[in-house]
Amino acid sequence: MGLLLRKLRLRLQLSRAKHRSLAGHSRLARKVASWVPRYEYDEAVFFRVDGAPEEVAALRRRAFMQLSSIHAERFKKSAALTEEAAQGLSDLQFTSRYRVPFQFSGLVRRHFKPGAVAVSSSGVCIVDLDGNRLYDLTGSYGVNVFGYDFYKECIARGSERVRDLGPVLGAYHPLTVCNVRRLLQISAMQEVSFHMSGTEAVMQAVRLARYHTGRSHVVRFCGAYHGWWGDVQPGVGNPQPARDTYTLNDMSGAALRVLRGRRDIACVLVNPLQALHPNRGAPGDSTLLGGRRAHFDRDAYTEWLQRLREVCTARGIVLIFDEVFVGFRLAPGGAQEYFGVRADLVTYGKTVAGGLPVGVLCGQSRFMRRFREDRPADICFARGTFNCHPYVMGAMHEFLLRLTSEPIAGLYQGLDAAWNARARSLNDRLAAEALPVRVANLCTIWTIDYVGVSRYNWMFQYYLRAAGIALSWVGTGRLIFSLNYSDQDFAEVAARILAAAREMQRDGWWWSEPRLTNQSIRRRVLGEMLQARWTSLIGSMSSPRSR
Ligand SMILES: Cc1ncc(COP(=O)(O)O)c(C=O)c1O
Repeated sequence: MGLLLRKLRLRLQLSRAKHRSLAGHSRLARKVASWVPRYEYDEAVFFRVDGAPEEVAALRRRAFMQLSSIHAERFKKSAALTEEAAQGLSDLQFTSRYRVPFQFSGLVRRHFKPGAVAVSSSGVCIVDLDGNRLYDLTGSYGVNVFGYDFYKECIARGSERVRDLGPVLGAYHPLTVCNVRRLLQISAMQEVSFHMSGTEAVMQAVRLARYHTGRSHVVRFCGAYHGWWGDVQPGVGNPQPARDTYTLNDMSGAALRVLRGRRDIACVLVNPLQALHPNRGAPGDSTLLGGRRAHFDRDAYTEWLQRLREVCTARGIVLIFDEVFVGFRLAPGGAQEYFGVRADLVTYGKTVAGGLPVGVLCGQSRFMRRFREDRPADICFARGTFNCHPYVMGAMHEFLLRLTSEPIAGLYQGLDAAWNARARSLNDRLAAEALPVRVANLCTIWTIDYVGVSRYNWMFQYYLRAAGIALSWVGTGRLIFSLNYSDQDFAEVAARILAAAREMQRDGWWWSEPRLTNQSIRRRVLGEMLQARWTSLIGSMSSPRSR
């Protein structure tokens, strides 16, 4: 009876520690996702799905066609090659489908062919196949922390250093030893392992945590991305449910109670990027239903990490900081240094190999060991053909050398203050012109919030691209600046963002009537889905095959 009661209490505790959104309930989220029917707005509805009067719809239609012509002209060659590539490149097919909410996607894809071919980079810009010089806010998925010229140097100098050895694997290039030494200093850890991607570094961290604790479960926080491996992606996107993962409410006492109460938790994964939008997935324009809200509170997040640290220490749970994204972007010592909290294991990736692919895991020896002195057959296996590739080690060496010397070290001086001031000044200007756009930032990682109520916020990405700003496929959800953006570069980007917002305003996309709320938008979309589902059900029942 006592055991039953304890089980019940733990179950209840777990339920209370889930975020109330769908993302907080992975299994349900997968079920709902598999249920959502595809339907699209036809042209008559597309421009006035928010109930706009005909003259506003006409204004939007005209602007849509004009903007489409501008894109077609400006990105002609790049778009043509992208389209050809997409026929055989699954990734491109996927990303081009998910740039805008699916109800709008068909018409948008017919009129806006994204160009995804670039030929050169310098300063803070990239040049596409058509010769357009675009301010880069893609950040190359976060790899580009110091500017592309920096990485070109790392790769070139690093390649020279390892040229004599070439692609020999198994034997280590001597630079590997230097890299291990430097990484241990930076992370304040005792051992390192090298992997080919951030995903693999996280996989290894979790595997080791399970091995050393003898426990089964991984805790991740709602919305956090840790790569695309199954156990850390229990919800939508993974065809198989993850059985041994708890997805908990970020920054909540209820989550701490679960950590205190259960005996099956091996590790807690923290992606400090979530500080910008706790409990929400990476913001992208394809999921933009109405507004978006982000806000970074450094003190609150620091306190949260301290509390997590305490509980993990008390309960023997391995605390893993997944710094694949934020490592080296916030401070030379990463999020551990920035927030002043130490983890047991830390993952790095993206930028740390000076522009080449990598994943790194650093940790205390007691968690990194893959064997036991007393039980020789009980090992924790991890390999990877390319794990210490000499060219990767060469470029990483250059990266780590430069990190603590000028001019790179100087880029970290007053970093937060500078980027917060830039964000504030842009927001002031947007507010002064009553434009319904704001930015929120975690240092150089920015996201665009929409303060008005609109079905068309996703259109903003096309105005920004026409204004010469390169965005990744998630559009205005994530803007990544490199640290080498000068005041002048930033002023130019800010001017372009303002100009694009003015045009979008002028073209009627942000027309709104008072009755429209973000909630009413969601209700309407739910109603549309139910109707589409019903229609397809009736259709399938009356088709000859089902009779
Ligand atoms: C926090 C975090 N962890 C892991 C990964 C996965 O890294 P990779 O794409 O190199 O596999 C990412 C990638 O964006 C990430 O942001």
